[in-house]
Amino acid sequence: MRIGILTAGGDCPGLNAAIRGVGKTAIVEYGMEIIGISSGFLGLINKEYRLLKEEDLSGILTLGGTIIGTSREKPFKKSNGINQIDKPKLIKKHYQELGLDCLVCIGGNGTQKTANKLAEEGLNVIGIPKTIDNDVWGTDVTFGFDSAMWIATDAIDRLHSTANSHKRVMVIELMGHHAGWLALYSGVAGGGDVILIPEIKYDLDVIGEYLTERANKKKPYSIVVVAEGIQNPKGGSAARYICKKLNKLIEQETRETILGYIQRGGSPSPMDRILATRFGASAVKLIAERKFGRMVIKNGENISSLPLHEVAGKLRKVPVDYALVKKARSMDICFGDRV
Ligand code: F6P
Repeated sequence: MRIGILTAGGDCPGLNAAIRGVGKTAIVEYGMEIIGISSGFLGLINKEYRLLKEEDLSGILTLGGTIIGTSREKPFKKSNGINQIDKPKLIKKHYQELGLDCLVCIGGNGTQKTANKLAEEGLNVIGIPKTIDNDVWGTDVTFGFDSAMWIATDAIDRLHSTANSHKRVMVIELMGHHAGWLALYSGVAGGGDVILIPEIKYDLDVIGEYLTERANKKKPYSIVVVAEGIQNPKGGSAARYICKKLNKLIEQETRETILGYIQRGGSPSPMDRILATRFGASAVKLIAERKFGRMVIKNGENISSLPLHEVAGKLRKVPVDYALVKKARSMDICFGDRV
């Protein structure tokens, strides 16, 4: 069989581990051929690809980013230009011309949605979920999340000493898109005092009162962890907005940090390497069994799969009564709401 593989959407640590997991299993165990499609769905539109041989997959396990490139190309999105091209039609044409038996799409929510549409158009497709946001519906976890959590936790750890030295309130903004997984997990792991996530509506007065009370209790400094996706009437940086507002509400000095793309860069954590490898190997097993139109998932300790149409278009958000939220509340971590 001839397998096409692409990485789409924002990059994250573990993409190369997944490519390697797919490629090595396909080549070594099943004698399949692997075609690396360049820059996500753009590569299928422009017919840009290269054969990935076994030797091309050596030494990439620990590498950040993706050796085949990525893009945010959404082929089914309608464009208004005069030179409109039928991208799905081109993708199907090139899929046939390349003689592909299946296309493996490694990506987040948007990618799985596109993968499902391609499956509906008659292509054999398998999805592999990745993202630092951990917001892909149907899987317990995506690879990329653990690595980003390590980076974000390290950043919060480093804020403690400078916050303490200056007796300041430090506000740090983490990624996560519309979900609060990264802020919640890194916030708890890094000893954040306030954690703001999109799923829980905050009240600035509640945060102000909480921080003032901490100062009154002779706690010299505080750390406020903010998910980028929280409600922010001003647009722009969520941390900047919260920081400015707190500055007016509390006596302590406030400072902001926006961690940004550092969260997506560098070598994957051991957990992400293993998860990506397992996802990759399981995707190939599905292909060998001709079980197409599915996305591999982690369910407890097991790797299994779900139909793409069940996953497509959904978002996995933090439930407001999530166990870690409740645990954090019981330790007086403030989520900005009145409980
Ligand atoms: O989905 C991953 C992610 O890093 C989000 O956390 C963030 O909102 C977004 O991508 C940034 O996207 P871009 O790479 O297009 O700037």
